[in-house]
Amino acid sequence: ELPGSVTIWEVGPRDGLQNEKQAVPVEVKLEFLHRLADAGLSVLEATSFVRPEWVPQLADAAELLAGLQRAPGVRYPVLVPNARGLDRALESQVRDIAIFASATETFTRRNLNRGLDEQFAMFDPVVRRAVDEGLSVRGYVSMCFGDPWEGAVPVEQVVSVGKRLLEMGCDQLSLGDTIGVATPGHVSALLRGFAAAGVAVDQLAVHFHDTYGQALSNTFAALQHGVSTVDSSAGGLGGCPYAKSATGNLATEDLVWMLDGLGIKHGVDLAKLVGTSVWMAEQLGRPSPSRVVKALSS
Ligand code: HMG
Ligand code: MG
Repeated sequence: ELPGSVTIWEVGPRDGLQNEKQAVPVEVKLEFLHRLADAGLSVLEATSFVRPEWVPQLADAAELLAGLQRAPGVRYPVLVPNARGLDRALESQVRDIAIFASATETFTRRNLNRGLDEQFAMFDPVVRRAVDEGLSVRGYVSMCFGDPWEGAVPVEQVVSVGKRLLEMGCDQLSLGDTIGVATPGHVSALLRGFAAAGVAVDQLAVHFHDTYGQALSNTFAALQHGVSTVDSSAGGLGGCPYAKSATGNLATEDLVWMLDGLGIKHGVDLAKLVGTSVWMAEQLGRPSPSRVVKALSS
């Protein structure tokens, strides 16, 4: 059954901008965040406190959060991989963090410089301390469907990684199709796998990249299973610098258009959002790949 309302977890400022070749000035990032809040988005994944040498695009995280005018009722989660990242996040008054695990050995090594099992040892003290400090902690699982080096990823492997993150103290899992290869039947199979393992659907979010044009269909499949938190990026910005062939996320505008058609509440002003993506596209010097942005801005 479809949910009555959906929380859109906007990842454009983080997943989108981490992948830009040219540096985006901090003032532009701030205006982007302010405009997204004004368009009604209530969760804005703002940046990452990762090692700056690994993702120079987000090396300005502290400066960004210092300049941010937090809108009432809006959450601004950030990615945190380790203890050093959590220190930095707490110094910047962060209240919501996300750790990011991988379901595959190869991607864990490429993205975190650790093996699959070693990643839990890195995350465990971070989650423990964050929970003690009263923060919310999301756990991403990357490569939930396919991995560019390992091929198709078994459902049991993903469920096992996800369960370990929940047992560690994460309050939500975001199931990532990092390279956009999932199709709706595979999404259903994975969600059935989590249900069979006793994980409640309200602990799950979905995170689709649109590399093969399947992100919206995959989201619909997840909604039919009762998933009510969906990740997307304004204008379809995005990708992961450490994953071969990762392109933009599901565009928030495309998601909003579908939710409107289904009568599912989301709280976003589509016209303001499209205006923001058109403005951002001008800053980046190329058009948004979102079909809805194109349709509504021409
Ligand atoms: P490492 O090189 O193994 O780091 O990186 P280390 O632990 O060996 O530490 C080495 C030095 O780095 C130390 O400094 C640390 O202090 C420093 P030294 O003592 O030598 O002077 N350092 C840091 N500095 C600042 N902030 C930190 C930090 N950590 C260490 N947080 C590490 C390991 C995990 C840090 C690195 O691999 C990393 O930063 N990886 C992040 C990669 C990333 O951000 N990828 C993109 C996000 S994931 C994604 O996009 C997928 C997702 O969207 C879902 C999906 O689509 O599936 C979420
Ligand atoms: Mg992603």
